[in-house]
Amino acid sequence: MKIILGPASTQLGQKIAETLKTEAVNVAFKTFPDGENYVRLEGRVQDEEVAIVQTTSPPQDTRLVQLALMADAAKRNGAGKVAAVVPYLAYARQDTMFLHGEAISAQAVARMLSAAGVERLLTVNVHQEKVLTHFPFPAKSVSAVPLLAEYFIKRGLKKAFALSPDKGAIYIAEEAQKVLGGECGYLEKNRDRHTGQVTIKRKTFDIRGHPVIIFDDIISSGGTIVSAANILKELKPQRICVACVHPLLIGEAEKNILNAGVDEIIGTDSVPSSVSKVSLAPILSRELAS
Ligand code: R5P
Repeated sequence: MKIILGPASTQLGQKIAETLKTEAVNVAFKTFPDGENYVRLEGRVQDEEVAIVQTTSPPQDTRLVQLALMADAAKRNGAGKVAAVVPYLAYARQDTMFLHGEAISAQAVARMLSAAGVERLLTVNVHQEKVLTHFPFPAKSVSAVPLLAEYFIKRGLKKAFALSPDKGAIYIAEEAQKVLGGECGYLEKNRDRHTGQVTIKRKTFDIRGHPVIIFDDIISSGGTIVSAANILKELKPQRICVACVHPLLIGEAEKNILNAGVDEIIGTDSVPSSVSKVSLAPILSRELAS
Protein backbone atom coordinates (compact mmCIF):
# COMPACT_ATOMS: atom_id res chain seq x y z
CA MET A 1 0.00 0.00 0.00
CA LYS A 2 1.16 3.54 -0.75
CA ILE A 3 0.10 6.56 1.30
CA ILE A 4 -0.96 9.63 -0.65
CA LEU A 5 -0.18 12.75 1.38
CA GLY A 6 -3.26 14.95 1.07
CA PRO A 7 -2.49 18.67 1.44
CA ALA A 8 -4.66 18.92 4.58
CA SER A 9 -2.89 16.09 6.45
CA THR A 10 0.67 15.94 5.15
CA GLN A 11 2.31 15.39 8.55
CA LEU A 12 -0.19 12.78 9.71
CA GLY A 13 0.11 10.98 6.35
CA GLN A 14 3.89 10.97 6.66
CA LYS A 15 3.68 9.50 10.18
CA ILE A 16 1.33 6.77 8.93
CA ALA A 17 3.69 5.94 6.04
CA GLU A 18 6.61 5.75 8.47
CA THR A 19 4.69 3.53 10.87
CA LEU A 20 3.67 1.20 8.05
CA LYS A 21 7.17 1.41 6.49
CA THR A 22 5.60 2.14 3.15
CA GLU A 23 6.11 4.72 0.41
CA ALA A 24 4.51 8.14 0.70
CA VAL A 25 3.33 9.88 -2.47
CA ASN A 26 3.58 13.67 -2.42
CA VAL A 27 0.82 15.75 -3.95
CA ALA A 28 1.39 19.02 -5.77
CA PHE A 29 -1.57 21.34 -5.34
CA LYS A 30 -2.61 24.87 -6.07
CA THR A 31 -5.63 27.12 -6.30
CA PHE A 32 -6.28 28.86 -9.59
CA PRO A 33 -6.98 32.62 -9.57
CA ASP A 34 -10.71 31.88 -9.91
CA GLY A 35 -10.66 29.64 -6.82
CA GLU A 36 -10.67 26.23 -8.51
CA ASN A 37 -8.40 23.50 -7.09
CA TYR A 38 -5.69 21.50 -8.82
CA VAL A 39 -3.82 18.40 -7.65
CA ARG A 40 -1.16 16.15 -9.18
CA LEU A 41 0.24 12.94 -7.69
CA GLU A 42 4.02 13.16 -7.75
CA GLY A 43 4.65 9.41 -7.48
CA ARG A 44 3.53 6.28 -9.32
CA VAL A 45 0.45 4.42 -8.10
CA GLN A 46 -0.03 1.97 -10.99
CA ASP A 47 -1.35 -1.37 -9.63
CA GLU A 48 -0.89 -0.19 -6.03
CA GLU A 49 -3.48 -0.08 -3.29
CA VAL A 50 -3.47 3.48 -2.01
CA ALA A 51 -4.71 5.30 1.08
CA ILE A 52 -5.28 9.03 0.65
CA VAL A 53 -4.87 10.83 3.98
CA GLN A 54 -6.86 14.04 3.93
CA THR A 55 -8.85 15.56 6.74
CA THR A 56 -11.81 17.74 5.80
CA SER A 57 -11.79 20.37 8.53
CA PRO A 58 -12.19 24.01 7.38
CA PRO A 59 -11.99 24.94 4.56
CA GLN A 60 -14.16 21.83 4.20
CA ASP A 61 -15.32 22.35 0.64
CA THR A 62 -11.80 22.87 -0.73
CA ARG A 63 -10.56 19.81 1.13
CA LEU A 64 -13.41 17.64 -0.05
CA VAL A 65 -12.82 18.68 -3.64
CA GLN A 66 -9.07 18.03 -3.27
CA LEU A 67 -9.91 14.58 -1.87
CA ALA A 68 -12.20 13.82 -4.80
CA LEU A 69 -9.55 15.04 -7.26
CA MET A 70 -6.85 12.88 -5.61
CA ALA A 71 -9.13 9.82 -5.78
CA ASP A 72 -9.82 10.53 -9.44
CA ALA A 73 -6.10 11.01 -10.12
CA ALA A 74 -5.25 7.74 -8.34
CA LYS A 75 -7.80 5.74 -10.33
CA ARG A 76 -6.89 7.47 -13.60
CA ASN A 77 -3.24 6.60 -13.01
CA GLY A 78 -3.94 2.92 -12.52
CA ALA A 79 -4.24 2.53 -8.74
CA GLY A 80 -5.91 -0.58 -7.38
CA LYS A 81 -8.18 -0.10 -4.39
CA VAL A 82 -8.49 3.51 -3.20
CA ALA A 83 -9.08 4.12 0.49
CA ALA A 84 -9.78 7.57 1.92
CA VAL A 85 -8.45 8.20 5.43
CA VAL A 86 -10.47 11.21 6.54
CA PRO A 87 -9.91 11.79 10.28
CA TYR A 88 -12.45 14.63 10.49
CA LEU A 89 -15.36 13.92 8.21
CA ALA A 90 -17.02 17.15 7.16
CA TYR A 91 -20.80 17.38 6.90
CA ALA A 92 -21.23 14.31 9.13
CA ARG A 93 -23.42 16.22 11.59
CA GLN A 94 -26.16 16.77 8.99
CA ASP A 95 -26.94 13.05 8.77
CA THR A 96 -30.70 13.35 8.64
CA MET A 97 -33.37 15.88 7.60
CA PHE A 98 -33.92 17.73 10.88
CA LEU A 99 -36.15 20.39 9.30
CA HIS A 100 -38.34 20.27 6.21
CA GLY A 101 -36.49 21.21 3.03
CA GLU A 102 -33.00 20.29 4.25
CA ALA A 103 -30.42 18.09 2.50
CA ILE A 104 -28.81 15.00 4.02
CA SER A 105 -25.36 16.46 3.55
CA ALA A 106 -23.52 13.36 4.80
CA GLN A 107 -25.14 11.26 2.08
CA ALA A 108 -24.39 13.80 -0.64
CA VAL A 109 -20.70 13.75 0.41
CA ALA A 110 -20.68 9.93 0.44
CA ARG A 111 -22.02 9.80 -3.12
CA MET A 112 -19.55 12.40 -4.32
CA LEU A 113 -16.58 10.46 -2.94
CA SER A 114 -17.85 7.20 -4.40
CA ALA A 115 -18.29 8.79 -7.82
CA ALA A 116 -14.71 10.11 -7.64
CA GLY A 117 -13.28 6.61 -7.08
CA VAL A 118 -13.08 6.15 -3.30
CA GLU A 119 -13.78 2.51 -2.36
CA ARG A 120 -13.15 2.47 1.38
CA LEU A 121 -13.42 5.07 4.13
CA LEU A 122 -11.59 5.21 7.42
CA THR A 123 -12.53 8.02 9.77
CA VAL A 124 -12.21 8.82 13.47
CA ASN A 125 -15.00 9.33 16.03
CA VAL A 126 -17.58 10.16 13.42
CA HIS A 127 -20.35 12.18 15.04
CA GLN A 128 -22.94 9.40 14.65
CA GLU A 129 -22.07 5.85 13.53
CA LYS A 130 -25.21 5.78 11.40
CA VAL A 131 -23.54 8.27 9.04
CA LEU A 132 -21.42 5.38 7.82
CA THR A 133 -24.48 3.64 6.37
CA HIS A 134 -24.71 6.43 3.80
CA PHE A 135 -21.48 5.27 2.16
CA PRO A 136 -21.92 2.77 -0.70
CA PHE A 137 -18.61 1.06 0.26
CA PRO A 138 -17.00 -0.18 3.50
CA ALA A 139 -16.78 2.72 5.94
CA LYS A 140 -15.39 2.51 9.47
CA SER A 141 -14.86 4.92 12.34
CA VAL A 142 -12.20 4.21 14.96
CA SER A 143 -12.01 5.88 18.36
CA ALA A 144 -9.23 8.14 19.55
CA VAL A 145 -10.73 8.50 23.03
CA PRO A 146 -8.43 5.90 24.69
CA LEU A 147 -5.40 7.77 23.29
CA LEU A 148 -6.70 11.04 24.75
CA ALA A 149 -7.34 9.42 28.13
CA GLU A 150 -3.84 7.87 28.11
CA TYR A 151 -2.39 11.36 27.62
CA PHE A 152 -3.94 12.39 30.95
CA ILE A 153 -2.77 9.20 32.70
CA LYS A 154 0.79 10.17 31.71
CA ARG A 155 0.11 13.62 33.20
CA GLY A 156 -0.84 12.06 36.55
CA LEU A 157 -4.62 12.41 36.19
CA LYS A 158 -5.47 8.76 36.82
CA LYS A 159 -9.01 8.41 38.22
CA ALA A 160 -10.03 11.86 36.96
CA PHE A 161 -13.79 12.25 36.51
CA ALA A 162 -14.68 11.87 32.79
CA LEU A 163 -17.57 14.06 31.73
CA SER A 164 -19.55 14.25 28.52
CA PRO A 165 -21.27 17.60 27.89
CA ASP A 166 -24.14 15.82 26.15
CA LYS A 167 -26.14 12.73 27.10
CA GLY A 168 -25.86 11.42 23.53
CA ALA A 169 -22.08 11.35 23.87
CA ILE A 170 -21.93 9.51 27.21
CA TYR A 171 -20.31 6.61 25.37
CA ILE A 172 -17.24 8.86 24.94
CA ALA A 173 -17.00 9.53 28.69
CA GLU A 174 -17.52 5.82 29.38
CA GLU A 175 -14.73 4.90 26.98
CA ALA A 176 -12.41 7.38 28.71
CA GLN A 177 -13.46 6.10 32.13
CA LYS A 178 -12.27 2.60 31.20
CA VAL A 179 -8.75 3.99 30.76
CA LEU A 180 -8.80 6.56 33.58
CA GLY A 181 -10.33 4.21 36.14
CA GLY A 182 -12.43 6.89 37.88
CA GLU A 183 -16.07 7.83 37.54
CA CYS A 184 -17.98 9.35 34.67
CA GLY A 185 -21.13 11.34 34.01
CA TYR A 186 -22.91 13.53 31.51
CA LEU A 187 -24.67 16.86 31.23
CA GLU A 188 -27.83 17.45 29.25
CA LYS A 189 -27.41 19.78 26.33
CA ASN A 190 -29.97 21.28 24.01
CA ARG A 191 -29.17 23.09 20.78
CA ASP A 192 -31.76 25.32 19.12
CA ARG A 193 -32.00 24.05 15.54
CA HIS A 194 -32.72 27.55 14.23
CA THR A 195 -30.28 29.75 16.19
CA GLY A 196 -27.59 27.17 17.05
CA GLN A 197 -27.71 28.44 20.67
CA VAL A 198 -26.55 25.82 23.22
CA THR A 199 -28.12 25.47 26.66
CA ILE A 200 -26.90 22.95 29.23
CA LYS A 201 -28.93 21.85 32.25
CA ARG A 202 -27.31 22.27 35.66
CA LYS A 203 -26.46 18.99 37.40
CA THR A 204 -24.51 18.02 40.48
CA PHE A 205 -21.59 15.60 40.62
CA ASP A 206 -19.35 14.73 43.53
CA ILE A 207 -16.20 16.29 42.06
CA ARG A 208 -15.14 18.77 44.76
CA GLY A 209 -11.33 18.71 44.87
CA HIS A 210 -11.07 16.13 42.08
CA PRO A 211 -9.75 16.66 38.55
CA VAL A 212 -12.41 16.61 35.81
CA ILE A 213 -11.84 16.03 32.12
CA ILE A 214 -14.58 17.00 29.66
CA PHE A 215 -14.48 14.72 26.62
CA ASP A 216 -16.18 15.65 23.35
CA ASP A 217 -15.83 14.58 19.74
CA ILE A 218 -15.68 18.11 18.30
CA ILE A 219 -14.94 21.58 19.59
CA SER A 220 -16.20 24.05 17.04
CA SER A 221 -17.30 27.45 18.41
CA GLY A 222 -16.45 26.27 21.92
CA GLY A 223 -19.95 27.16 23.16
CA THR A 224 -20.63 23.65 24.45
CA ILE A 225 -17.43 23.48 26.51
CA VAL A 226 -17.81 27.02 27.86
CA SER A 227 -21.34 26.20 29.11
CA ALA A 228 -20.15 22.91 30.62
CA ALA A 229 -17.14 24.57 32.31
CA ASN A 230 -19.39 27.26 33.83
CA ILE A 231 -21.51 24.56 35.46
CA LEU A 232 -18.51 22.53 36.65
CA LYS A 233 -16.72 25.52 38.19
CA GLU A 234 -19.53 25.90 40.73
CA LEU A 235 -18.81 22.35 41.90
CA LYS A 236 -15.23 23.32 42.80
CA PRO A 237 -13.19 20.61 41.06
CA GLN A 238 -9.41 20.57 41.56
CA ARG A 239 -8.92 21.37 37.84
CA ILE A 240 -10.88 21.21 34.60
CA CYS A 241 -9.26 19.79 31.49
CA VAL A 242 -10.81 19.32 28.07
CA ALA A 243 -10.08 16.62 25.51
CA CYS A 244 -11.57 16.47 22.05
CA VAL A 245 -10.86 14.39 18.99
CA HIS A 246 -11.43 17.13 16.42
CA PRO A 247 -10.20 20.55 17.62
CA LEU A 248 -11.77 22.79 15.00
CA LEU A 249 -11.49 25.73 17.44
CA ILE A 250 -13.24 28.27 15.27
CA GLY A 251 -12.56 31.97 15.94
CA GLU A 252 -11.95 32.72 19.62
CA ALA A 253 -12.98 29.25 20.82
CA GLU A 254 -9.66 28.42 22.50
CA LYS A 255 -9.46 31.77 24.30
CA ASN A 256 -13.10 31.61 25.41
CA ILE A 257 -12.65 28.10 26.81
CA LEU A 258 -9.55 29.08 28.78
CA ASN A 259 -11.33 32.22 30.02
CA ALA A 260 -14.16 30.00 31.25
CA GLY A 261 -11.75 28.45 33.75
CA VAL A 262 -10.46 25.45 31.79
CA ASP A 263 -6.84 24.63 32.70
CA GLU A 264 -5.84 22.65 29.60
CA ILE A 265 -7.31 21.75 26.22
CA ILE A 266 -5.95 18.87 24.16
CA GLY A 267 -6.96 17.36 20.85
CA THR A 268 -5.62 15.10 18.13
CA ASP A 269 -3.91 15.84 14.83
CA SER A 270 -7.20 15.06 13.09
CA VAL A 271 -7.26 18.84 12.81
CA PRO A 272 -3.74 20.27 13.08
CA SER A 273 -3.93 23.00 15.77
CA SER A 274 -2.14 24.47 18.78
CA VAL A 275 -3.77 21.82 21.01
CA SER A 276 -3.10 18.77 18.80
CA LYS A 277 -0.94 16.90 21.31
CA VAL A 278 -2.06 13.36 20.45
CA SER A 279 -1.37 11.75 17.07
CA LEU A 280 -3.83 9.46 15.34
CA ALA A 281 -1.03 7.74 13.42
CA PRO A 282 -0.91 4.60 15.64
CA ILE A 283 -4.63 3.79 15.40
CA LEU A 284 -4.97 4.68 11.72
CA SER A 285 -1.86 2.68 10.78
CA ARG A 286 -3.12 -0.33 12.75
CA GLU A 287 -6.44 -0.16 10.97
CA LEU A 288 -4.89 0.18 7.50
CA ALA A 289 -2.62 -2.78 8.19
CA SER A 290 -5.47 -5.05 9.32
C1 R5P B 1 -22.27 18.09 19.10
O1 R5P B 1 -23.19 17.34 19.37
C2 R5P B 1 -20.83 17.75 19.25
O2 R5P B 1 -20.63 16.60 20.00
C3 R5P B 1 -20.06 18.89 19.86
O3 R5P B 1 -20.46 19.05 21.22
C4 R5P B 1 -20.33 20.18 19.14
O4 R5P B 1 -20.12 20.01 17.78
C5 R5P B 1 -19.46 21.28 19.67
O5 R5P B 1 -19.78 22.47 19.03
P1 R5P B 1 -19.47 23.87 19.68
O6 R5P B 1 -18.03 23.86 20.07
O7 R5P B 1 -19.77 24.86 18.59
O8 R5P B 1 -20.38 24.05 20.85
